[in-house]
Formats: sequence, structure tokens, C-alpha cells
Amino acid sequence: MTDSSPFYITTPIYYVNDKPHVGHCYTTLVADAVARFMRAAGRDVFFLTGTDEHAEKVVTSAAERSLTPIQWADRNAAEFQKAFAFLQCSNDDFIRTTEDRHTQRVRDYIQQLLDSDDIYLGEYEGWYDPSQEEYLTETTAREHDYKSPVTGRELIKRTEKNYFFRLSKYQDRLRKHIEQHPECVQPEARRNEVLGRLREPLQDVPVSRGSGDASGSSGASGGGGTSGGSGGASGGGWGILMPGDESHRVYVWIDALFNYLSTVDTPERQRYWPAQVHLIAKDILWFHAVIWPCMLMALGKPLPATVYSHSFWIREGRKMSKSLGNFLDLPTIEAYCRPFADGGFGIDAFRWYLLTQGPLGATDADFAHDKFVEVYNADLANGIGNAASRVSNMIAKYFEGLCPVAQGVSDVDAALGKTAQSCVERAFERATLTHADPASGFRAGVDISNAVDEYIALTAPFKLAKDPANMQTVGTILYQCAEALRIAAILMSPAMPSAMADLLGRLGQDAPDDKGRFAEPLEELCKWGRLQAGTRIVKGEALFPRWDADRPVPTP
Ligand code: MSP
Repeated sequence: MTDSSPFYITTPIYYVNDKPHVGHCYTTLVADAVARFMRAAGRDVFFLTGTDEHAEKVVTSAAERSLTPIQWADRNAAEFQKAFAFLQCSNDDFIRTTEDRHTQRVRDYIQQLLDSDDIYLGEYEGWYDPSQEEYLTETTAREHDYKSPVTGRELIKRTEKNYFFRLSKYQDRLRKHIEQHPECVQPEARRNEVLGRLREPLQDVPVSRGSGDASGSSGASGGGGTSGGSGGASGGGWGILMPGDESHRVYVWIDALFNYLSTVDTPERQRYWPAQVHLIAKDILWFHAVIWPCMLMALGKPLPATVYSHSFWIREGRKMSKSLGNFLDLPTIEAYCRPFADGGFGIDAFRWYLLTQGPLGATDADFAHDKFVEVYNADLANGIGNAASRVSNMIAKYFEGLCPVAQGVSDVDAALGKTAQSCVERAFERATLTHADPASGFRAGVDISNAVDEYIALTAPFKLAKDPANMQTVGTILYQCAEALRIAAILMSPAMPSAMADLLGRLGQDAPDDKGRFAEPLEELCKWGRLQAGTRIVKGEALFPRWDADRPVPTP
């Protein structure tokens, strides 16, 4: 029976104080590939990404450009939407935290937590990192010599009257939950990190900041401009006003975390809660693995199944940073994504590199041009592309382009089918991001095309074809190859939707729709033997032309 239950996957919502870069694109791309796979598998998928707009730094960056915060947020939110659409991300919604549908619900959640006394008014003194808009514990602050662990900028000692969330009240329940549900924080190294920190007592967390110029504590002061749709922000302020106390605004992090719930908190979408996967990177693990689940407990909501926290992309061996000015930005991404004839690798190949070589595990991954070329040539040009052209050429040459019949299948022939089936199982097992090596799930299709190559080398159909008496055997071999490639193309289509739609078309198969759904569930489609003898197999141009070493590096 096909599992058609709801599957809700989210990405972080990104700050709009700057333009998107490869890091943001990566997280949304991984979520896209998982969402496409799950839709193909028959699940009722909801895939959410969006932007986090009420940060104080939006006000400062806007002011530097003589814009109002909302004007600046509008511009950058549009950049994120454009980038994700360009990379063919199939998100079902794009939430902006300045939208009424979000801000109204945030006020309702906060009100509920005030009513239950999970949020209270108190005083706070602590080390504040203005560059990250977060407070650090005394221990962390000391460890980093009272400088931001992320940007190295000086921390500020701040005293504030604030609203606090009783995080401490939920600590034990959370620790037990994480201990009992190993899949709830992934990968394992991250889970251990969280459990380690949960052994120390937790402090309650501030959920508000002063609402404007008066408090003196807010970098947002004097930011100017109204917030458009921000539901309650007024005058010089930016952010959602605390219900019942307009001298405070909801702290940006708390506002942001609620997006996961607010977006699906409608009668039509409530079936999607709890989320199956919150995909994030390690920089924001604490908020997602600790603060968020505790707030959900306080609200009486079920907890997300998995917080998957990947590592970072670095570039040519070096950390990407503003000071180095080496972010892999959108113009460069677009250059890599240009069609081959225009000097690029194409969008599919870019997606492939990010998805299969990215930092899904506990270590960082390098975006290095030479490595890109190596992977492109190995997996795509010499891999699936070459296998597809060899097989279609032989079918054209020996069988007039019509898929031959498999008969008298030997053990060697059958082994290819078995390999394909185990790759399908692997893809299924890893697509939920609860397995230690999810990237090998994305790679399952290329493992099939490699197996096709080995099988051709072993059986040498081009040699056999020299004697007409062997044509039945040659037919069997080529059927096995074409069938394996059909399955490979289906498995690779969440990663490379356009190129694999092309390949499926050449194999006489229907492509999935633009969200990755096929007419039948993946498990059925991937059953060995569904390719009909007699199907027209089209040769076509090279899917992925080989990249020679002397081709220039794509640049904007
Ligand atoms: N607005 C908060 C998140 C709120 S979620 C309720 C935020 N925004 S962010 O714009 O800084 O995005 C951080 C996220 O971007 C990371 O968690 C990760 O998903 C992605 N990445 C940013 N830089 C990255 C790399 N260098 N490599 C991989 N992903 C990175 O934090």
C-alpha cells in the first residue's frame, strides 16, 4: 500500500538584510529534492521556505540605503523567491514574516503562552551579540573572549526588562524526548551536541525586546518607516508588538520560529502539523532543537519528527565570509547554471553537485571548481549521459530504435535488475533524512548507471552483434540496460528534474509534473520490467556534454 500521509518539510526562513547566496540556495534545494521524491512516492507533501524580516539589521541596512525596512525587505524577499524559482525549487508556499497571516497568529500564540504563564515579564542581564541578534550564555561568552563566535564582533552587556519564556520548565521533558527518539535531531553528532548541552541547567529565554527608541536596547531604534503588512508594528519600530504591552516587540527569533506553525495553521492545512523535517544548518541548531520544541510543548502541540542540521559550504577551501568577499553569490550561481553551449553546466548539473557533494553530514563541504568539473564528468557526462547515449545508439543501430525483448535472462543479466532494486530501496530509506548518509540516497540513480556501464563492459553487446545469431542475446542485454536507465532516471529526477524529464522522454516514458509527481507512485513505477518491448527509444543530443579542462570557469 502506498503511504499517502502528509509530509511537511521546511527550510529556515532567511534574513532579508542581504541577498541570497549558495548556502541559502543549498538548504532550499535539499528540501526541494526531498519534497519531489516524497511527492513521487505518493506522500501528501507541503514544502515551505520563506524570509525572516523583522530582524533589527533589516532596519539598519534599509536606512543605509535610505529605504524603509519594508521596502528593503520587499526587494530582498523578491530576490530569494527569484533565486529559488530559478533553481526550480518546488516550494508550495513562501512565507514572509511581515505578512498578516503570520503576524496575527504569532500574537495569538504569544497570548496563549502569556495566559498559561509560560511567558512572564522579568529582568535580564546578559551578553548580547548584536551581529547575530542573540544572547549568549556566560560560558559561551567567556569561551569566545566576549566576542561573537560567528563574526568576532564585540559582545555587549545588556540589561533589559523583558518577557521570558520558561524554557527551564520543559528541559527534562525535552531531554527525555530526544533520548527516546534518536531520529528527532540529525545527524547523530548534532544530537549528541544538543544532549550534551541539555545536561546543564537551561536559562529562560527572552522573547521580547524594547519596542522602539525609548528602550535604548534596540538596534532598531530610529529605523524609520512603517512595516506595511507587519500587523502591529508602528512608527519607528519594526517587529510584532507584544500582545497587551506595546512597549515591547516580539524578539525576532521567536517570531521567526513560529512561521513553521503559522503557515499551516489553517483548516485546509492543519493536517500537515507536525512537520516531518525542519531542515537547517548547524548555526541555528539550538533554536530549532531546543527552544522551538519547548515552545511547542507549552502550546500543547505535537513535536516535529526530525530537525536535520547540515554543515556549511566553504569555497575553494576557505570559509565564505563578508570580509573575504568570497560568497558564491547569485550571479556566479547563474553563470554555472548557464546552458552548456553558453559556457555553463546547466541548472541540473548545478543541483546535482550541490545535492550530492554538499555538507549533509557533520563536516563542511568545499565548493571547488575543479571538483565540480570532476563530479560533472564522472557522474553526468561519463556516467548517466554516456550510458544513455551508448544504449540508445545500440538500440537504434541493431533494433531500429525499438526497445528489444528480454528473453532467456541469465544470472548476469538478472544481477543488473537486482542492483537497480537495491538502489531503489536505498533511495527510499534515505529520503526521509533520518539516515546517516542521505546524499547516497540522491546518488542511487548514478550507481545504477555505473552498473549499466559495467554490465555493458562485461557482456560486450557491440561485439556479440557482429554475429546475427546472437541478436536475441543482444536484445536481452539492451532491454536490461534500457530498463535500468529508466529506473535511474526516475530516481535522479528529484535532483535533476529537467534533464531527467528529457531522458525519460527519450525512453518513451512520461515525465513527472512540475512538482515531481508521476502518474503512479514511485514504488510501482520502479518495479523491474515495466518498460515495454517495442517502445521507441530516441537517441537525441548528448544529455551532458563532456567538460574539457580548457573550458573557462563560468563567471558572471
Ligand atoms: N533567519 C534565521 C533563521 C530563522 S528560521 C526560523 C537565519 N537566517 S539566515 O539567512 O542567516 O540563514 C541561515 C541558514 O542559511 C543556515 O541555517 C543554512 O540553512 C543556510 N546557510 C547560510 N550559510 C550557509 C553555508 N555557508 N553553507 C550551508 N548553508 C548555509 O539564520
